[in-house]
Amino acid sequence: MFSPEIVERALARFPRHRATHAPTALEPLPRLGASLGLDLTVKRDDCTGVAFGGNKVRQLEFYIGAAEARGADTILITGAVQSNFVRTAAAMARRAGMDIHVQLEERVPDIDDTHRRNGNVLLDHLFGATIHSFPVGEDEDAADASLEGIAETLRAEGRTPYIIGLAASTPPLGALGYVIGAMELVAQHDGDLPYDEIVVASGSAQTHCGILFGLRALGVQTPVRGICVRRAADIQQARVAKRLRDMAALTGLDLTIPDSDVRCFHDEREKGYGQMSAATHDAILRTAREEGLLLDPVYTGKVMAGTITLHERGELAGPRILYWHTGGQPALFAYAQAFDDRPTG
Ligand SMILES: Cc1ncc(COP(=O)(O)O)c(C=O)c1O
Repeated sequence: MFSPEIVERALARFPRHRATHAPTALEPLPRLGASLGLDLTVKRDDCTGVAFGGNKVRQLEFYIGAAEARGADTILITGAVQSNFVRTAAAMARRAGMDIHVQLEERVPDIDDTHRRNGNVLLDHLFGATIHSFPVGEDEDAADASLEGIAETLRAEGRTPYIIGLAASTPPLGALGYVIGAMELVAQHDGDLPYDEIVVASGSAQTHCGILFGLRALGVQTPVRGICVRRAADIQQARVAKRLRDMAALTGLDLTIPDSDVRCFHDEREKGYGQMSAATHDAILRTAREEGLLLDPVYTGKVMAGTITLHERGELAGPRILYWHTGGQPALFAYAQAFDDRPTG
């Protein structure tokens, strides 16, 4: 366990492009909580301030900081067609005065024209991103290799590209943003978290790892549950465990988090990445109608659906839940058809 000053000093070694509107608010969800039988609080990281916000703003502070420190003039990133990371990276690159190339992977089957043009893709265009297509969606190493090829071409043109690497083989720089997020949460409660469990989406796992690492570094033992959006729980748990070891190496903080502390949940009703189950669809509508709060179809809707399922199965550590909202709402517009149950005529 470390003091906040030691953790801050460990993070201060990393260049950072500050952009996050923080601390983000903590708000109760009284009606949804009461109808579920939970004491629900939301941490509003959907409101982090840059280009519709979301968790990627905290993460990108460190990638853009590293790019600036290396004198880069162009950011390269790969992601799904409706990637929030890609959209936010485009905004952050522009904010730092850099050019932006994005590679969109075919990760979601049978997508329609709206999915290809609206939501985050529309925003990528607004930011003037150069868009490259990649035909596969589940080969991180191949996607990174393809990005390296684009970077090579840019170098030959005299540019200085910086690749935001997301594969588990790259240093988890983005997770540092969530160590800061965890410290922020602890400070918001004067060190004493009033939650039985924290729930958050677990994709690349940088958010999940950053929160877990940050809390444990400060000696806070609140369970953190990563709700899987892309991989089965056992595979994701192994990824999180590896990334936690990577974080200790990266930060120089000698912190070992036991595998038993890495908790992931994958609801078998959920289909693959970016595919919405009926449970997620219901969770999005319910949260919108009971609380006026928007969730997204790919991440936060699944987290709410997963939380409800865990609660129904009696598998939550207790009723006091912190739901860590990570944004993603622009994707709602790409999934318009799935919500189009309005009467016509
Ligand atoms: C809205 C949203 N929530 C959660 C996540 C998952 O975060 P991470 O990749 O850090 O696991 C993402 C990732 O793209 C996201 O866009």
